[in-house]
Amino acid sequence: MIRDIVIYPDKRLKELSKEVSEFNQELHDLLDDMYDTMVNKKGVGLAAIQIGVPKRVLIINLPKDDSDDAIIKKEDTLEIINPKFIEKSGKCKHQEGCLSVPGFYEDIERAEHVVLEYYDRYGEKKIIDNRDFLAIAIQHEIDHLDGKVFIEKLSILKRKKFEKEWKKRHK
Ligand code: CO
Repeated sequence: MIRDIVIYPDKRLKELSKEVSEFNQELHDLLDDMYDTMVNKKGVGLAAIQIGVPKRVLIINLPKDDSDDAIIKKEDTLEIINPKFIEKSGKCKHQEGCLSVPGFYEDIERAEHVVLEYYDRYGEKKIIDNRDFLAIAIQHEIDHLDGKVFIEKLSILKRKKFEKEWKKRHK
């Protein structure tokens, strides 16, 4: 089921999401709704809090090629629950966007390499070791679980400019 996306500056985006303790049907329904919502909005990642659910759950589905009509398959969706960084190193800068801040894109600095421990929907422990765009997407989505949105990483000047434009656009 497609759910409404929580849009900046909604206070819920500042909430600290809680760990999942039961890997049950409720979790599976949440993941399925997140997938439907992400695909509907043509996003590549979504955290549960972005549909108003404060749980440490996120999904990522990066297109395999750059074409606009690249088909997103459900089985390619990475479902990440209760993630923990084991390692974060290096630095890189990439353009990011967010379904909660629609229409805004900006270069953001992140770690270049991450090693992540997490659980899948069945409660099985997994590890990701990545230094591609997936590493960036993971950091962006985990920030949501910690109540942070990517625009908070902008310089003061760029942030001010953003807030001004955002207010104008959402009057
Ligand atoms: Co986002």
